[in-house]
Amino acid sequence: MQETMSSIATVLIFLFLVIHITEQHQKPCIPRNYGLSSVVCVCNSTYCDNILQPQLLPRGQYLSYTSTLSGLRFKEKRGNFQISSESKRENSVVIDIDSSKTYQSIFGWGGSFTDATGINIKSLSSGAAENLIRSYFSEEGLEYNLCRVPIGGTDFSTHGYSYNDGNEDPQLSNFKLAFEDYQYKIPLIKAAQNLTTGKLELFASAWTAPKWMKHNEKYTGPDFLKKSMYQPWANYYLKFLKAYKQKGIEFWGITTSNEPSTGLIPSRINSVGWLPWQMREWVAENLGPTIRNSEFSDIKIIGIDDQIFFFPLYIDVMFEDERVKNYIDGFGLHWYWNFLPPMLLTVTHNKYSDKFILATEACEGAGVYKKHVLLGEWNRAESYAIDIIKDLNNWVTGWIDWNMALDVTGGPTYISNNVDSPIIVNKTAGEFYKQPMYYALGHFTKFIPKGSQRIYVKQSKEEVDLVAFIRPDNATVIVAMNRNNHDVDVRIEDKNNAVEILDILPARSINTFLYL
Ligand SMILES: *[C@@H]1O[C@H](CO)[C@@H](O)[C@H](O)[C@H]1NC(C)=O
Ligand SMILES: *[C@@H]1O[C@H](CO)[C@@H](O)[C@H](O)[C@H]1NC(C)=O
Ligand SMILES: *[C@@H]1O[C@H](CO)[C@@H](O)[C@H](O)[C@H]1NC(C)=O
Ligand SMILES: *[C@@H]1O[C@H](CO)[C@@H](O)[C@H](O)[C@H]1NC(C)=O
Repeated sequence: MQETMSSIATVLIFLFLVIHITEQHQKPCIPRNYGLSSVVCVCNSTYCDNILQPQLLPRGQYLSYTSTLSGLRFKEKRGNFQISSESKRENSVVIDIDSSKTYQSIFGWGGSFTDATGINIKSLSSGAAENLIRSYFSEEGLEYNLCRVPIGGTDFSTHGYSYNDGNEDPQLSNFKLAFEDYQYKIPLIKAAQNLTTGKLELFASAWTAPKWMKHNEKYTGPDFLKKSMYQPWANYYLKFLKAYKQKGIEFWGITTSNEPSTGLIPSRINSVGWLPWQMREWVAENLGPTIRNSEFSDIKIIGIDDQIFFFPLYIDVMFEDERVKNYIDGFGLHWYWNFLPPMLLTVTHNKYSDKFILATEACEGAGVYKKHVLLGEWNRAESYAIDIIKDLNNWVTGWIDWNMALDVTGGPTYISNNVDSPIIVNKTAGEFYKQPMYYALGHFTKFIPKGSQRIYVKQSKEEVDLVAFIRPDNATVIVAMNRNNHDVDVRIEDKNNAVEILDILPARSINTFLYL
């Protein structure tokens, strides 16, 4: 008897330890309210909330993760599938899943290694900086796997620059990486690669050419490249890829140019303007052959890298030349004109279905009339999630955020183009704040790994925003956002898999469901 008692005690102590250790690993949000609709989660050098990679439950059970305006962040819950004889709530929204109808595969998720991102992360202590990088890349963070790297400076730099400033130099004999590459981008990319469990893939975009390549001899537009500089500008991309390779960093893709449209209008943002027929000529005669005949011949060449307005207008003109059609692998989409119908993406996909569409830039708080940084604003989480869901439902294969970390003013940006970011760094306090947008992103990035395929989903009445996937491990993922100020009862019916789930989407919530 005594022996039994002591072994029970041992088991109990063991269980206590297991639960205790598990709890220590999953760290909750430390909320702070700045007087807006929701909260930020505060992290510092010794503490940061996290989200562990979920262990899938056996068939018959499901996991759900919920974040809400009222302050929940990745709140985990386990539930059981319903037995079909159980009574059903009359007013439920029926969510119909059909995994036999499949659409595009996912490439990945990420943000951008801007100078501002590097400057802000470097302004923190090493402990806090590591917590921040972990928050995006590690297995206890958002697990980003596809990120954008500016070639030279952007508006989120402390000054305008290119890699070949100074006198006219078509041979690019003075090409060299900048202080910012050595201080910020390269160390940060390496630290991120170190923490990523899979492979961290990268693609690069150039904002401006050296001034001497342009008619107006400025970093900004409206302006075009001098015709005589078409080949040197293609060589510049090659030089960049080589210089980074020498530092041990290789790229999955390049875009043809960041926002060619910005270079057509008066704007303070550094740019190269391209009309579609100019871009067609440059890709056909210069960029395409230069890249495909180089050691980087397999790299993805991503066209457009601009607003939805240019889909498929620019593409139609560019693809009049078969060579361009062969050189271009896919199209980059920016979010800033996302009031235009996302259907334009499906039109593009239907016309050019062998080319992928990737969302390559997005941020909240852009424009002179917007408040730049809104600490804890839930509307911004919703606007991220709506955009991602609309994009995914129109053939987009991944979504890449803009600055990964900005300061409390939404900078630095040398042209005062301050905006918001999912992580805001307060260097004075040695802490950083995870905005609701961070969690909105995580509801997708964490649970929909590369290689997942979108599947059919439909709701019985238009109450919520939905997208669904089947993952490489055969788990089904459903992201469901409720933007109503009331709870919504849902009934998920996945007939092929004999799954029926009854649950509630809380008012103003983003939810991810996961089951085998
Ligand atoms: C970091 O945050 C944790 C949790 O809020 C707190 O207990 C700790 O004192 C903070 N550390 C520093 C150095 O501020
Ligand atoms: C990457 O990890 C290795 C081993 O843990 C470490 O030695 C190295 O310093 C890390 N590199 C970076 C850039 O963090
Ligand atoms: C940043 O930290 C400083 C020092 O603790 C504090 O005075 C300031 O209010 C903080 N800013 C924000 C936006 O929290
Ligand atoms: C997923 O399901 C398919 C078809 O049922 C099966 O062939 C495959 O082995 C499964 N994959 C995994 C990772 O379980």
